[in-house]
Amino acid sequence: MSVGIFDSGLGGLTVWDAVRRRLPDLPLLYYADSAHAPYGVRTMDDIHALTVRAVHAMWDRVDLVVLACNTASAAALRRMQEDGVPQGKRVLGVFVPLIEALSERGWGDNSPPREVAVNQVALFATPATVASRAFQRELAFRAVGVDVEAQACAGVVDAIEDGDMILADALVRSHVDALKRKMPHPQAAILGCTHYPLVADSFRRALGGDVTVFSQADIVADSLADYLSRRPHFALGGTAAMMTTGDPDRVSARATQFLRRPLTFEAAP
Ligand code: DGL
Repeated sequence: MSVGIFDSGLGGLTVWDAVRRRLPDLPLLYYADSAHAPYGVRTMDDIHALTVRAVHAMWDRVDLVVLACNTASAAALRRMQEDGVPQGKRVLGVFVPLIEALSERGWGDNSPPREVAVNQVALFATPATVASRAFQRELAFRAVGVDVEAQACAGVVDAIEDGDMILADALVRSHVDALKRKMPHPQAAILGCTHYPLVADSFRRALGGDVTVFSQADIVADSLADYLSRRPHFALGGTAAMMTTGDPDRVSARATQFLRRPLTFEAAP
């Protein structure tokens, strides 16, 4: 079976690309729920229902799905795991690997929370992710004394999905300004939406050189490689594919623009 990478749209491609570089022989099924993007302005119940529907559509082809979407991870992951996934299937999110990296922990280190090097952290994420406080909750299990200031970055995902990078850059600058009014000197910034690495340079420019920017793609790829080394049966066989619930031609064109290589999406079943 291939491994599934799910996002509301194009953002998960940043994770897909990093996983492809890290595990070049692993066949990946990428699934973009483009017809319903962005998720970040929807209610928790709506995001949960959409995520469940998309992941169910992937089960024919994969046994393991990575929710390469913070919004879906925040709104749906815990509920999906509590409700139970089909026998032999697993769903993973993208929060925990990022927080383990920030809090200087190895995979699955469940020791009590402790002090860490950074204590002024700026979190940039979608309105739904910020409202969920899932990041702060997961961080509190692992670190003490970290002050997190969250900025809901309305509009950035829409601009990226539309390929309007000038608007995306302008929005990033205004969101960073808003954050800095609340926290003038963050030590670290978390790009807590998988779309944001596509505008990482805008964040870096607006934040300035002394802020360490954590972005998820490579962190999640390393964590997945580690996971699969302990559970290799999830990565046996399967074929690669890219699917979208939106217009395959439009999504293929945008994906090709972002990753600068020809990518072809087909219509999701
Ligand atoms: N890439 C998704 C995330 O990481 C974007 C969510 C959206 O569709 O608004 O949160």
